[in-house]
Amino acid sequence: MSRAAFSILGAGRLGRTLGRVMARRGYAPAGVSCRSLRSARQAVAVIGGGEPTTSNARAAAGADLILITTPDGVIAPLARQLAAERHPWRGKVVAHASGALSSIALEPLRRRGARVASFHPLASVADSKEGLKTLHGIPFAIEGDARAVRTLRRLVAQLGGFPVTIPRQAKALYHLIACLLSNDLVALLSFGLDSARGLGIARREAARLYMPLVRSTVSNVARLGPVKALTGPVSRGDLTTLRLHGEALRALPADLRRLHRLLALRSAALALEARTITPEVAVRMARLLGSLP
Ligand SMILES: NC(=O)c1ccc[n+]([C@@H]2O[C@H](COP(=O)([O-])OP(=O)(O)OC[C@H]3O[C@@H](n4cnc5c(N)ncnc54)[C@H](OP(=O)(O)O)[C@@H]3O)[C@@H](O)[C@H]2O)c1
Repeated sequence: MSRAAFSILGAGRLGRTLGRVMARRGYAPAGVSCRSLRSARQAVAVIGGGEPTTSNARAAAGADLILITTPDGVIAPLARQLAAERHPWRGKVVAHASGALSSIALEPLRRRGARVASFHPLASVADSKEGLKTLHGIPFAIEGDARAVRTLRRLVAQLGGFPVTIPRQAKALYHLIACLLSNDLVALLSFGLDSARGLGIARREAARLYMPLVRSTVSNVARLGPVKALTGPVSRGDLTTLRLHGEALRALPADLRRLHRLLALRSAALALEARTITPEVAVRMARLLGSLP
């Protein structure tokens, strides 16, 4: 078991969760920094060790592996500030956890001799209790200096995750796709659940009614891929039902109607690929969708 000392700078939702799992896996917590001392103390309680502080430089000084889990906007200024410290950076590994930023954000520390990387768990960590489970078995996107990447790949293996390599220049796209699939899906679900007001039911009740369908759909996409997972009137080429939907759509806001049209056209392309509709039906369907209110 490794006893490498680590520090967490910005021990919020992800930082304290990561720290807790690392401590359980035998890494030794050193400095734990937050903006407020109260928050740093709470983080230390979650992690199960470490020294709470509001000084990032002090937290960083105590370890050879330093993980920056502050908000994205703080990372580059923090790297500049740390690099200006009289501190032996040579041989230290410094990584940040942003999905969109690359290791370039830590360039000032690299110039001081640190080995730098970005290290992004592709998961949504909303709180540290649930987060322990969330971090298990998930991909971690890693890029950066060879030695830092080796250290982080070892760490990921010990956390029970698996490393994936995302090239530095592709990180913004990689993260945008994650947001399309996760955050935008949440927004789409909220649009749908709010529309259930038309049935006279509230969001919570709507969730009970529709969430089993959502879960099975996501599970089918994971199992079969989108082309085979698509069901419903577009996949069957059912123009009668689509006309009925056209009437019901009138009650919904204009931006939701536009969104539905866009997504239904995408579904038609999937149905064509699956050969559940013919090109002639796809053309009629596109015309019908274009004429919807
Ligand atoms: N949460 C996730 O699901 C997730 C998943 C993958 C990657 N990430 C990445 O992880 C990073 C953090 O996200 P998060 O959701 O954990 O954010 P968060 O819960 O808001 O935590 C941010 C932490 O940073 C601290 N902080 C802010 N400015 C600071 C500064 N100048 N110096 C030291 N500490 C500072 C805050 O301190 P206070 O508590 O005192 O305010 C807070 O504890 C981001 O880069 C994000 O992209 C998050």
